[in-house]
Amino acid sequence: MISEKTARAALRSIQALSRQMSLYPMGHPSTGEALTDATVVTQALSTDEGGEAVISLLGDSIYLGKSLLPHASLELSSFLRTLQSRGIESMSFTSPVAGADIADLGAFIAGLSGDVPAEATIRLNESPYSRADLESGEGSGVRRSYTRSLDVLRGVAAALERDEHFDLSGAAWAVEQLVEQTISQPAASLLLSTMKSHDEYTFFHSVNVCILSISMGRMIGLPTEHLSALALGALLHDIGKVRVASSILQFPGRLDAAQWKQIKLHPQEGAAAILTAANPMQEIASTIAYEHHARFDGLGYPPSHRKDRNLHFYSRLVATADTYDAITTRRSYRRAETPNRALHVILNGAGTIYDPDFARAFIEMVGVYPAGSLLQLSDGDLVMVTKADDQGETPDVVLLRPAGDQLLAQPVKAEIGDREIVDQLLPGEIGVEPAALLEQVGIIIQPV
Ligand SMILES: [Fe+2]
Repeated sequence: MISEKTARAALRSIQALSRQMSLYPMGHPSTGEALTDATVVTQALSTDEGGEAVISLLGDSIYLGKSLLPHASLELSSFLRTLQSRGIESMSFTSPVAGADIADLGAFIAGLSGDVPAEATIRLNESPYSRADLESGEGSGVRRSYTRSLDVLRGVAAALERDEHFDLSGAAWAVEQLVEQTISQPAASLLLSTMKSHDEYTFFHSVNVCILSISMGRMIGLPTEHLSALALGALLHDIGKVRVASSILQFPGRLDAAQWKQIKLHPQEGAAAILTAANPMQEIASTIAYEHHARFDGLGYPPSHRKDRNLHFYSRLVATADTYDAITTRRSYRRAETPNRALHVILNGAGTIYDPDFARAFIEMVGVYPAGSLLQLSDGDLVMVTKADDQGETPDVVLLRPAGDQLLAQPVKAEIGDREIVDQLLPGEIGVEPAALLEQVGIIIQPV
C-alpha cells in the first residue's frame, strides 16, 4: 500500500520553508528551523524510495514515482498550483539531499530567485516518467471536483477574513460539478466523502457534507435542478466559522460559556455573508447555513428559530449529514468514531435532534456499514467497504490485511461470505486513509 505520509510531510515542509523565506531572511532562526526540517524530511523520503524520490505534478494530481498521492493532491492543491506557476512539473530528490539545494528550492518556489538547486541533489523537471505513466489517476472526475470545491472554500473564506466582497459564481460552479459527479459515480463519491484533514477540517468537512447531502437529496427524489441549491447550502453551511477564532475552534478541552457563545454565532455569520453574495435562486443556501444547528425539537441554535419550529427541509437534511461527518472525524477535543457508531448517534437523536424521516433516509443511503468502513472479520482478515450494503445484500469489500499479515501493497477484491464482522476499526488505528484508496479499490471510475 502506498504510504503517502512521508511524501506529504516532505511537500508540506517545502511549502513551509518557501513561505518562511518569503517572510524572513535566511539568517532568521525560524527560517533555519524550516530549512532543517525540510532537509530531514526530504532526505527521509529519498531514503524510503531507495535513494531517489521523484514527485511529479500533473493537472490536479501529485504523484510519488508512478503512484498517485490522492490525499496530498487534495490537501496541497494550492501549493501544487504554486509549484506549477513556477514551471515545476517534477522534483527529483537524490540522497543525500543537500541543505543548500533545499534552500535554493525554497527560494525558487518563493519567487526570490530564478536559480535552480546548484548541487543537483534536487533536480527539477527531469522525471523519468512520461505523462502516460502517470495518467491512471487523472480520470477521477469526482476527485477533481472535490479539489475544486476545496479551492472555492479556501477562496471564499480568505475573502471573508479580509472583509472583501465575494460572489458565489465559483461556489455555484463547483457544486454543479459535485452534483454531476455524485450522480454519475455515487459509490466513488461516497468513498471520497470519508476524506479527512486535521489542518483544514472545516473545508474537507464542508465538501463531505455537500457530497452526502447531494446523495441524500438524490435518494429522496429531488430533481437535479434542486440539488444544486441544496449542495450550495451544504458546501457553505459552516462558512461563518471564519469569524470564530481558530483558538476556540481547535480548543482541546471543554469550552466555557464565552467560547460557546462565539461558536454559536457561526450560523448567523455564515447566513449573513451568503445573503450578501447570493442571487435570489441561491438564497436558500443562507437559510441552510442559518438553520444547520437548529434541532428538530426546537432546541439547538440560533435560538430565534424556536418560535415556529418550521425548519426548511434542506436544513434538516444537511444537519444529518453534518453530524455524520463530524462524528467520524478526529478533532482536537475528541477521537473519531466509526461510521457505524455515528449512525447509532443519528438514530438515537431521531425525533429530537434530527428529523426522524431524514435520519432513517440517511442510514438507508449510507448502509449499515458505509463505504470506507474498516471491518475485522472472524477469521482475522481486515477488509474495507467500497460499496455499502444495499437492501439486505452484503457490502462490497476489498481485503486490506490478511489475518496475521501486513497491509497488502494493493487491496484485492474480496467477499465477506459467511464470516462474521467482529470489530470495526478507525483509519488511524491501522494507518490507512480509506478515501485515499479510491483509485486502487476497483470502483469503476468513468473518465469525464
Ligand atoms: Fe456548524
